[in-house]
Amino acid sequence: MTRPNAPESNATPNVPAPLPSYAPIAEELNRATETLKDGLRHLDPQFDAYLQYSFKLGGKRLRPALVLLCAKAAGQIGEKAILVAAAMEMVHTGSLVHDDILDGATFRRQLETVNAKWDSQRAVLIGDMLITRAFDLICDCDDSYVFRKLSRCCRATVEGELYQTESIGNFHLTVDDYLRIVGGKTASLLECSAELGAHLGGARGAEREAFGNVGRALGVAFQIVDDALDLVGDEKKVGKTLGTDLENKKETLPLIIFFQKASEAERSELRRALENGVSAEKRAQVAAALQKSGAIDAALDEAEKLVDESLATLAELRARAEKAGRVEALPAFDSLAELARFVVKRDR
Ligand code: IPE
Ligand code: IPE
Ligand code: MG
Ligand code: MG
Repeated sequence: MTRPNAPESNATPNVPAPLPSYAPIAEELNRATETLKDGLRHLDPQFDAYLQYSFKLGGKRLRPALVLLCAKAAGQIGEKAILVAAAMEMVHTGSLVHDDILDGATFRRQLETVNAKWDSQRAVLIGDMLITRAFDLICDCDDSYVFRKLSRCCRATVEGELYQTESIGNFHLTVDDYLRIVGGKTASLLECSAELGAHLGGARGAEREAFGNVGRALGVAFQIVDDALDLVGDEKKVGKTLGTDLENKKETLPLIIFFQKASEAERSELRRALENGVSAEKRAQVAAALQKSGAIDAALDEAEKLVDESLATLAELRARAEKAGRVEALPAFDSLAELARFVVKRDR
């Protein structure tokens, strides 16, 4: 994202940065989207309307792209990778429908959230339906590795959200506490996408694990940027309700860094403000204090470090593929590098 303190920003107002092109997998990504749509048809028209609604504008499709690019980089994209790509997007969307209830958010993917359009009762059930449909889809893979990995990933996502819920109002979190939350709620899905893509492409052992580690690091970086956007992002570009972390008393990395660096007086002043929940109007004030202290930049530095590490791992994997004469895999590696860079450049 454009750093809030940057002396000169050439970002165009209200026009978000372009998404990665996903060019080497364009056709397969379209097929995954079709599989997703087919998988969400429901015979009952009202249920069908609920399920279709969650996909109206679509989001950035980062997770299915990761599945398909890792499959291609590791070997090839078969039918199973298309199913897994669609399933990962379903799980992701289901988790967002649930997350919006937890956050009391009303705006997502430029639309009203499911809980705002209908109600929380329906949103719980629609989220459940999206996640169970994902498991339906991957049954057709007939691969216990895939099934186990996705089940564990779902459990980790829920645990991450639970750790965060348990920590509401606690403004004494450590970086390790934060990483435990983020590692569960966000990084597990990206890790699972990358690792299953590599698995279905033909990678095994340390190579498959290396792809998973890239997904995990990108997931943590992605959430750090998301948390910075929640403080200083532009709601029109991001397309979802922002400021909910402060409003719901969820401590994220910029705050943790601020508390590490601040004086005792600054710490207690901010903690007093946070303890009552920061309203949308007061968000800019808190964000400005964090910006001034350098805490947002320091958090973004951590995200950049993780992306650099991922780029280094991808370069090693690419070099090995090149040495083995697998030239058809190289564009997928280049596109993965583009996706990795987008994680920290993104403003949506
Ligand atoms: C939002 O994910 C939830 C987080 C992990 C922060 P995305 O920003 O990838 O959501 P979509 O799919 O593009 O809407
Ligand atoms: C990510 O956390 C939620 C999930 C991984 C389900 P956030 O609460 O920060 O996500 P947004 O900002 O609402 O998209
Ligand atoms: Mg949220
Ligand atoms: Mg967020």
